[in-house]
Order: sequence, then C-alpha cells, then structure tokens
Amino acid sequence: MINSLKAALAIGTAAATLHCAAFAQQGPTIRVSISDEAAGDPIEPEVYGHFAEHLGRGIYGGIWVGEDSEIPNTNGYRNDVLAALEDLEVPVLRWPGGCFADEYNWRDGIGPREERPVRINTHWGWVTDDNAFGTHEFLNFAERIGADAYVAGNMGSGSPREMSRWIEYMTSDEDTTLTRERAENGREEPWDVPYFGVGNESWGCGGHMTPEYSAELHNRYATFVDTPPGMDMTRVATGANVDDYNFTEVLMRDVKPWLMDAVSLHYYTFPGSWENKGAATGFDEAAWASTLKNSLRMDDLITEHVARMDEYDPEGRVALYVDEWGTWYDSEEGSTPGFLYQQNSIRDALVAGLTLNIFHRHTDRVKMANIAQMVNVLQASILTDGPDMILTPTYHSLMMYKPFKGATPLEVEFDSPNVEIGETSMPHVDVSAARQEDGTVVLSMVNLSPDEPARIRTGLRGSVATGQLLTADEIDAHNTFEAPERVVPTDFTGEETRSGLRFELPPRSLAVVTVDTE
Ligand code: AHR
Repeated sequence: MINSLKAALAIGTAAATLHCAAFAQQGPTIRVSISDEAAGDPIEPEVYGHFAEHLGRGIYGGIWVGEDSEIPNTNGYRNDVLAALEDLEVPVLRWPGGCFADEYNWRDGIGPREERPVRINTHWGWVTDDNAFGTHEFLNFAERIGADAYVAGNMGSGSPREMSRWIEYMTSDEDTTLTRERAENGREEPWDVPYFGVGNESWGCGGHMTPEYSAELHNRYATFVDTPPGMDMTRVATGANVDDYNFTEVLMRDVKPWLMDAVSLHYYTFPGSWENKGAATGFDEAAWASTLKNSLRMDDLITEHVARMDEYDPEGRVALYVDEWGTWYDSEEGSTPGFLYQQNSIRDALVAGLTLNIFHRHTDRVKMANIAQMVNVLQASILTDGPDMILTPTYHSLMMYKPFKGATPLEVEFDSPNVEIGETSMPHVDVSAARQEDGTVVLSMVNLSPDEPARIRTGLRGSVATGQLLTADEIDAHNTFEAPERVVPTDFTGEETRSGLRFELPPRSLAVVTVDTE
C-alpha cells in the first residue's frame, strides 16, 4: 500500500499543480479508493498508548495531588484528570520514564509516604521528588483508568537483582517476604504488569552505550525478568533513536531471541533543530509545514527499522514499540526549565492524526506506541494549572480516533497533490481507513494545508453513522484556561452521491467518520 501510495503521490504531484490552479477557491479534488482488502494485522489498541514520566508537572500536580489537596481528588488522583482519562480509554501507560527510569530505585516509592526518601530528579530540572507517587500509586492509577501497566526498569544505574525483586513485588502471588511487604503496604493481590521495559535510551541518558554493549546488557538483565509461571510479560529492549538503524540491527542480531519480545523506537517531531526546536504557538506557515512534514518522517523510519528486523526475524515475532513519540517544542516562556511544558494547538492534533495514520500502515510490526506525554509535558493531552484543567486539541484527536482501535486497516489509494510552503513540499491530504468488527468502515482525513480546503471523493457507498471534525480559525489556535473550548470537535458528515461519499475538508483540519457501508 505504501508503495502504491508513494507512486500515486509522485504521479499526483504533476497533476497537482493543475488541480490547484483549477480549484484555487475550493481546493483540490482528491479521489480516494478504499478496497475491501485488509492492509495488515488489526490495529492494536496499544498503539493508542500513553507515557507518564516523573518530569515537570506530568505526575505531580498533573495526575497526583495527594489526598490532603484542596484540588478534588480520589485517593490523591485529581478527579478532573481521572474523568478525562477514563473517557479517553487509555489502553496502556508507560511509567516511570523516560530518562527518569534509569535513575529510579523502586524501593524509594513504597511504604508510608512520610518515610519515603526525597531524591533529586537529575534529568529534569534538578528538582526534588518526595516519591509520593510510587509503585502502588502508579499501578492503582493504571487499574483505575483501565490501562495496562508498562513499567520501565532501570538498566542504566540499577542492578538485575533490583529489577527482579521489583517484578516479584508487583506480580508474585506466592507468600514471600516481598509479597508480605506489599500486603503491609496495602495491596494483598498481585497486579498485572503485562509489559516491562529493560532500560530506556541506553544510547543516551540511559548510559551512553554502544548498541553492542546495550545488547549484552539486555541479555543479562532480561534473564532476571522473572514472572510467575503462567503470567505473560512482554520484555521490551530499549531501542534506537530516530534513524539509528544500526542500533536496531545489532539488537536483533545479538539479543537472545527468547529474551526480547519487542524493541523500542523513539522519534520526536519539531519544526527547527534540536537546539532551537521552535515555538508551540505564534509560529508562521513555514513552521506549520516543517512540523507536519517532519511528522511524516515516521513512515520512513518505521519502514527502515522494520527492514532490519525482517532480516533477523522474518516471521515477525519481535514487535516494534514506538514508545515515545510526539511534538517537542521550546518550553513555554516563564515555565520551569527542564519541565518541558508546552502549549498544544490544532497543528499538534494534525501531527497526532498523521502519526496514527502511519501506525495503521505498519500494523504487522507496530504493536504499541506511546504519545509523550500524558499531562503537562510535551505533546500533552491534558494541561493543568492549579485546580484548573483543559483538554488539548491532541486529546480531541485521540478521542476522535477511538473507532480505529482493534479495527482492520484497509488498502487505501489516493492521488493527493502537494502543498508547497517555502522549502517544504508535503501532501495536501492524508487518509486512513479500517473496518471495525461490526463491518462499519472508519475513515480519517487530514488536510495539511494551512489555507486551502480539499474535496475528498470516495467510492464508499453507504451513510455516515458518526462523524467529527477538528479545525480552527488560525494555524496556532489552541485552548487556554481562559478559552478552553476554542478548538473542539464539531459534527461532520459527508454527501451521499451515486458515485460514493464525498467530504469537504476545511483547511488545517482533521475529520473522522464511521460509515455504514451497503
Ligand atoms: O519524553 C522526554 C524524554 O525524551 C524522555 O525522558 C527520554 O526517554 C526522551 O529522550
């Protein structure tokens, strides 16, 4: 499908100029053909996963305020955030890092809170962490919002014994010293921890290792990731940064096959350079375009990493987890350095849509992905300010995409013209389609143009059962605590014609519809 899409895009580029001229007012007309053929394995709901690190106000203030807080809470978790996350139906949540994972000792976060040690969060702002949010608080939180737990262990500065004892503490149902301690700390029953990460970014903050050393260390640590008989725990090797294909190749070559079920990939999108990433709001069309174009790079990255995986694992046993992705801008002025707090605009919602569409094209390997991060950090779904909370355009896009979870992706072909902005050339639209178990087709359509609409012509016969559109009057439109509903979804539908359903997409928009096909 990717190849045919790329070929179609190439042919479409020449025709595009004509189209654009002819429809300067209404935008181009794009014909989308959706086949009944499955384009890969079903979309794992876990591809819609999240990530929450001890970083800035991601946990403290964002999720956890403590039982004595004046902010309404249940057992210390803010009620407003709990409700928003329950609505979102988060399938899996990764914790405690990130870079933080490789400095974390799980024993700091258990037992009476007033007795827990206070440590310095050396990666993120050099601030203190009183460990009020630890193993019990995380696993109970995940259970409460209905998310599977994905715990990242410490391979950088911890020991294999520390890791194996943590797993025993969390998951064992035997009567042991550790499980008695767990019960004394308030939890008799073991938790389910279906995913365990062996370290994080070992090529960087996790220890600046070579891929060869990282693979060796993974073998050593993963040997001690012991779960009770009958309990499945997916062991995730910390993998490559962006386009470091050699890292993936070495892991696939050197890690013992029985010690690795998934390998991770991290890729963040920003308009500028690593040193000067660009602003989250107040940007121009060039930054709009380079952000969206850069988010599309995820497609090539996955293709190339998967090619390395295919060489060593042609059966596709090892999954690729994109367990950190999202936008990363310069932090907001006035926010604490190192807290990675940024606003979130309609542009971020489109990045989410484009990235999820890419994941739908790689379902044979991409079995989990975790947007970074959940609350108040990077491409957050939720922002809080003291007792106030707002939902970001990213949150709304994830809500709109819910029907894709578990659906089977369908072959889609379309001849999108390109939008040219400064030095950036990118497709005008992107489309993804999937069939849900009840037979309805779910279709997402993204219009990347900052100022031109697009007409989508499909051959789909049927009626729109549900539809929502997310757009805004400006390219950096965002929700604030003063105006929390500036960017919210509205009802959206198509026009039924004899040749199929048609849709009119406004500029800078994202639409998701479900169609009862005939
Ligand atoms: O999400 C912020 C940081 O980005 C994570 O801690 C790290 O894994 C990555 O570099």
